[in-house]
Amino acid sequence: MLPNDVQVMLVNPGSGGLTGVRPGYPTWPEQAASLLQACFPGEDGYPTPEKARAEVDDLRENATCLIIAVDAAGVVALVAGLEAYRGRVWELHPLAVRADRRGRGIGSRLVSLLEEEAIRAGVGTMILGTDDTEERTSIGGRSILPGALDNLRRLHDVQDTHLRFT
Ligand SMILES: CC(C)(COP(=O)(O)OP(=O)(O)OC[C@H]1O[C@@H](n2cnc3c(N)ncnc32)[C@H](O)[C@@H]1OP(=O)(O)O)[C@@H](O)C(=O)NCCC(=O)NCCS
Repeated sequence: MLPNDVQVMLVNPGSGGLTGVRPGYPTWPEQAASLLQACFPGEDGYPTPEKARAEVDDLRENATCLIIAVDAAGVVALVAGLEAYRGRVWELHPLAVRADRRGRGIGSRLVSLLEEEAIRAGVGTMILGTDDTEERTSIGGRSILPGALDNLRRLHDVQDTHLRFT
């Protein structure tokens, strides 16, 4: 369930199961860009307003499905599905929830809504990538190959201890 004051809007139609962005809300792309920059400020993400805005514009242009959530203060969250494997698969990218609204199920709900849109579009598989650029888990700073599945099975949080696989 979403908090009562949060409304979800579909920017790029998967197949139209959600309400579209309401007319007269032209500032959402800037707000979405600010959200992306705040969530992913590192060099691998969107360290400048320009990079963040370019990503939002790219998502508007190319994402098969783009869903935003808004509250009275603006864009709270966004998630997108990008077509892969000639449309049979969607890549979930990106997923971002504004810091002051985290931990209340908004991220989970957006992922569920994206999955519902994927199903409506006849897509049966969703993929996503993740990384550990700060060596905060057992796979940070090393290759997960060989034996990727075993390494991932043993994945654990090492916080600041920088433990390695034994
Ligand atoms: C990750 C993120 C999207 C989660 O959004 P959220 O609205 O706070 O998530 P929810 O409240 O729906 O929580 C969903 C689940 O994820 C877990 N979770 C949330 N943030 C987490 C984190 N940083 N690390 C590990 N687990 C986390 C919650 O405990 C919850 O687990 P449960 O279902 O077993 O209870 C949000 O913290 C965020 O935008 N972070 C910055 C950007 C980012 O890292 N995006 C994802 C990588 S692309």
